[in-house]
Amino acid sequence: MVGMQESIVDAKHLEILKLLKKANGRYVSGERISKNVKVSRATIWKHVSALRKYGYRIESKEGSGYKLVKPTDQLLPWEIKQNLKTKFVGKEIHHYAIIDSTQDLAIRLAENNAKEGTVVIAEKQKRGRARVGRRWAAPEGGIWLSTILRPKIPTAESTILPLVVALAVGNAIRKECKLDAKLKWPNDIIINGKKVSGILAEMSCEADRMNYIVIGIGVNANVNVKKLEAAIRGTEGYYGATSLMKELGREVDRVKLARRMLNELEETYLELEEEGSDIIIRKWKEHSATLGTNVTVALNEMCFVGKAIDIDYDGALLVKLPDGNIKRIVAGDVYVRMIKAK
Ligand code: BTN
Repeated sequence: MVGMQESIVDAKHLEILKLLKKANGRYVSGERISKNVKVSRATIWKHVSALRKYGYRIESKEGSGYKLVKPTDQLLPWEIKQNLKTKFVGKEIHHYAIIDSTQDLAIRLAENNAKEGTVVIAEKQKRGRARVGRRWAAPEGGIWLSTILRPKIPTAESTILPLVVALAVGNAIRKECKLDAKLKWPNDIIINGKKVSGILAEMSCEADRMNYIVIGIGVNANVNVKKLEAAIRGTEGYYGATSLMKELGREVDRVKLARRMLNELEETYLELEEEGSDIIIRKWKEHSATLGTNVTVALNEMCFVGKAIDIDYDGALLVKLPDGNIKRIVAGDVYVRMIKAK
C-alpha cells in the first residue's frame, strides 16, 4: 500500500468549490472568495490548485477571478455524497486514484471495526481480484468499489447477499443508463449477453455469527472494451465483456451512477433485512438472463449440462439434468455458461 494516497480535501477547498459551482460557469472574484470563505486572497490559488489536482478545470483571469469550466469526473467522496439518500452506505468513503485492490483495503478496515456501509473506491486497481481467485482488470474509467456490510442474518443465509447486490447494481444501471441490464447467476450483470459488471462477496464469521461481509463491485463504465478484451480474453469463465460507454455510444456520468448504486444497494439490503429473501429472489428472477436457458456448469474438475429452471430459497441455482434429476448449484468455485439456443 506504500505510495497509495487517499484523496482528501479540507473544508476551505469545499467552500470554494461550492461558490464556483453556484456561479454556474461565471467568474467569481478573488475578493468575493476571500470574503465568503475567509481565506487571504494570496492563498486562494493554493486551494484552487489543490482542486485542479482532483480534475476540476478551473480558469483564472486577472481582474475577473476564478471560474469552474468543467467539473471533475473522478469518483470523489464529496461529489458522491451530494444528494446521497442513504442512512449508512457511503456515509464514509475512502477514495484513491490508484490502489492495489479496494477489496483488500475494505477487508482491513472491516477487521479494524470500520462502520457498516464504509466504502473504498478507486479510479484504477493494480491487483483487482475476481471470483474463484482470478484477477480483475480494473483500468481507468470503471467504477471499482468495495463496501462493508454487517448483516444480522445467520451465516447459512449469507448466500443470498450476492444476489441482493447484483439486483441493486442491475437496478442502478437500468435506471441511470436506460440499458437492458440482465442478471446472470450467480452475480454478473450482463448487457446483450456480455459482462458489464461483476460482484465479489467475501465474509468473515465465527460459529454462526457473521462479523462482516465485504462486497466488491466492478462496473465497466467508461472502459475501453477493446483493450479490456485483449487483457482478459481466454481467461477461464470469460464469455465476452462490454462497457456502458460501448453500449450507449457515449460516456456515462460515473459519479451519478456510483451514487445510484449506493442508494439502490442500501434499499435492497434493508428490504432483505425487513422482508426476507423471498422478495429478493422474486425480483432477481424478473431480471434473470439465466433461467430458462441451457447451461454448462464447471465445478472444480467436473462439467455438466442442464437447464437452469429456478433459484432456491437461499440463492442456489436449480439445474434440471438430461435424466430429469435436479441439481442444486451453490455459488462458489463454479462457472456457469449459458448456451445460446440455435
Ligand atoms: C467477478 O466477476 O469475478 C467479481 C469481480 C469483482 C471486482 C471488484 S472491483 C472492486 C473490488 N476490488 C477488487 O479487487 N475486486 C472487486
